[in-house]
Amino acid sequence: MPTELPGASDEHVTHSRAVERLVTGQPTSDGAGVKLTRVLTQPLQRRLDPFLMLDAFGNDNPDDYLAGFPDHPHRGFETVTYMIAGRMRHRDSAGHEGLLENGSVQWMTAGRGVIHSEMPEQEEGVMEGFQLWLNLPARDKLCEPWYRDFAAAELPRFTTADGVEVRVIAGASHGIAGAVSRDATAPLYLDVHLPAGARFAQTLPPAHNAFLYVYRGEVAVAGTAVAEQRMAIFANAPQADGVVIEAGAAPARMLLIAGRPLNEPIAQYGPFVMNTQDEIDAALADYRDGRFAAR
Ligand code: CO
Repeated sequence: MPTELPGASDEHVTHSRAVERLVTGQPTSDGAGVKLTRVLTQPLQRRLDPFLMLDAFGNDNPDDYLAGFPDHPHRGFETVTYMIAGRMRHRDSAGHEGLLENGSVQWMTAGRGVIHSEMPEQEEGVMEGFQLWLNLPARDKLCEPWYRDFAAAELPRFTTADGVEVRVIAGASHGIAGAVSRDATAPLYLDVHLPAGARFAQTLPPAHNAFLYVYRGEVAVAGTAVAEQRMAIFANAPQADGVVIEAGAAPARMLLIAGRPLNEPIAQYGPFVMNTQDEIDAALADYRDGRFAAR
């Protein structure tokens, strides 16, 4: 798969979405004590349907990440881990194993259930990355688990005339198809690096929920500044055909994420996300009785 894709086409946005709300992530810890920032928290799940969670981790103190994420279960959704810097080993009960390194993506569809571990393979240096949770439609929540690693060099990417570098993790941008596509939720997941003063336009279907997260520098969207480590939730408006993002006097990096809402009930208990409490009870019983680890 080519890494630099020529022929990226322009995206024309005539009316940009506005920023509806700026969100500051909440410091927390998860796994066996990994410090992270929960950017998309549970109260935002309805507003940002089909996305359930976004965690940002960025630690240069090994004590904050060495304990990792030992064996734990998931059911009913997909996890997308994007490693900016660092090394993490994944193993799961479906027999998948992979090493996540600088710039790589791991896409895991938990479906009816996996037990997995995500453990650092570094004892020093910076570990930085993101984990996004993407919901599955009710009809797919008990599907077979699926897993795929994409090395940095396998991720489709392009550079715009403005010098904006874009990695297309999911969906399509400027005519370039991403590493993963999903019919029900049509996720768009871009990592966008803007030089100082650059502008980036992305078309978006008006009904899709969308947000960005700035992890370096600062950007502006329709006159609203979005500072480093802030999430901007974009308003849905019928006349808005996309979003236009501008960097200021310094370069900026951000994740741009959008998807089609499922509009189904969400019942979450920790790492299980189903539609009803009965389905959560069934997940707990299946986990307790060892029915997750079957291959
Ligand atoms: Co996990």
